[in-house]
Amino acid sequence: MKTNQACVVLLEHVTKYFDQRRPVSLWKREHSRIYALNDVSFTLRRGEFAAYAGPNGAGKSTTFKLLAGLLRAQQGQVKIFGADPCVKRIEVMRRTGVLFGNRSELWWDHPVRASFEWKKAVWDIPDGVYRTNVKRLKELLDLEPLWNTFSRELSLGQRMRADLALTLLHAPELVLLDEPTLGLDVLAKRRMIDFLKLANQELGVTMMVTSHDMDDLTEMANRLLLINRGRRAFDGSYEALLRMTGDHRLVRLITSADPPVPEGLTLVDRSGDRCTYRYDGTKIPSPRLFTLLAGIPGIRDIQMEPENIETVIANLYQKWSSGREAAAPEAGIG
Ligand SMILES: Nc1ncnc2c1ncn2[C@@H]1O[C@H](COP(=O)(O)OP(=O)(O)OP(=O)(O)O)[C@@H](O)[C@H]1O
Ligand SMILES: [Mg+2]
Repeated sequence: MKTNQACVVLLEHVTKYFDQRRPVSLWKREHSRIYALNDVSFTLRRGEFAAYAGPNGAGKSTTFKLLAGLLRAQQGQVKIFGADPCVKRIEVMRRTGVLFGNRSELWWDHPVRASFEWKKAVWDIPDGVYRTNVKRLKELLDLEPLWNTFSRELSLGQRMRADLALTLLHAPELVLLDEPTLGLDVLAKRRMIDFLKLANQELGVTMMVTSHDMDDLTEMANRLLLINRGRRAFDGSYEALLRMTGDHRLVRLITSADPPVPEGLTLVDRSGDRCTYRYDGTKIPSPRLFTLLAGIPGIRDIQMEPENIETVIANLYQKWSSGREAAAPEAGIG
């Protein structure tokens, strides 16, 4: 795997483990080695928007810490813009913005604006660039009402907006966001997603975002990277994931009679005159489905919809945790 101009992030056979020591008695300690990442490789090209997802403890935050130069891998190569973030931390961070949703970079006991002024001074951001970026970020993230508020007095959503703006203040070309929508209400989340899409599409910022909300991720990103127990488990588009897991769809019927369950469909819910069936769109094409439904008497209404991505992913995690499928086959982008 070679780095080139368009390759913004590169992980090549990266292994990161933590040695843990737990006291089991007064005299005895138990040693264990946790593999947070185990031989993980992927690249991110300029302008891509990748969602990085996986169950708790899968290794997502560890990946971001390696990319931010906060941790060093025991094996393999980590490169951002062709440089090792541990060695060229300042150069890399001038072009990169990193946000850990559970940790604030704002000065707790100061007004929000003080953190921005501090970053301007420390990062030596030119006056013109600072003014333009602050104006734009204030507008897009609705920061004006918070500008003079003490950071400690912000609500979680307000804090997250201010932190995101601070991350973007130096106009980074690469943005790594670890759970940026954590705890946001529906409206705040909507604004955040719209903002990130805009930054990616109009400014060409390369994005990598983690979240446990799959709906958010599939809406924002065109590439899905799934990680499980420190190993890359899937890399490709949402459509490719559906081809792998099965394109599960739901069909809801309102009937006057007690309907049978057609072959190939599974009954998932029945209450009164309403029934919901699940079927795999890759196995039952639409013409076949219509033929099956035509055999059901007394249908008054039909609705069809794809199964919620949350359910698709939850089923996948369930398979992984029960060990039936340690790692799914790769698909799509390599
Ligand atoms: N500093 C550390 N010391 C020891 N073990 C660690 C450390 N940091 C992470 N780990 C372990 O590495 C594994 C991966 O952790 P990581 O925080 O990367 O997971 P994650 O995918 O971000 O999970 P979550 O969705 O819960 O945020 C976990 O088993 C965790 O316990
Ligand atoms: Mg995490």
